Amino acid sequence: MERTFIMLKPDAVQRGLIGQIIARFEAKGLKLVGMKLKRVDRALAEAHYAEHRGKGFFEPTVNYIMSSPVVAMVWEGKNAVAAARELMGATNPAAAAPGSVRGSYGIDISRNVVHGSDSPASAEREIGLYFRPEEVLSYTKAGEDWLSE
Ligand code: TYD
Ligand code: MG
Repeated sequence: MERTFIMLKPDAVQRGLIGQIIARFEAKGLKLVGMKLKRVDRALAEAHYAEHRGKGFFEPTVNYIMSSPVVAMVWEGKNAVAAARELMGATNPAAAAPGSVRGSYGIDISRNVVHGSDSPASAEREIGLYFRPEEVLSYTKAGEDWLSE
């Protein structure tokens, strides 16, 4: 089973969208295995977005992520990374498919509501930034045998 790191960004928390967005991941059939409300400091924000250092949006993105608490989560399931990216929609909400999280709740690329890992390797790195190993749980969830063979 694959794991992915999902973060509800400050705008999602401030706009009261936490429950609605989590409901979509649950309904998809992914399993929540880690979750915390967290304030992100500069060191963590810069580490998270390290691949974008030097780009024009790096500093604004870091400041935005630090601006209010976020909900950091680990979701598990079959092809969890790709499934979550599909649920989220394109980076720019203006181009994200209607019905996707970003397509439903955003209008501007700088406030795109949610982060999701772009590969299993990124997921492992990002989970390690936000969670200690013992904070990511293994458990059996009722009904999971109805999701896949
Ligand atoms: P990126 O990793 O390209 O997108 P994604 O979040 O879909 O993996 O970019 C990281 C974040 O940086 C993105 O979610 C929003 C912000 N960003 C901008 O503000 N402007 C931009 O032009 C880009 C590409 C990203
Ligand atoms: Mg990215």
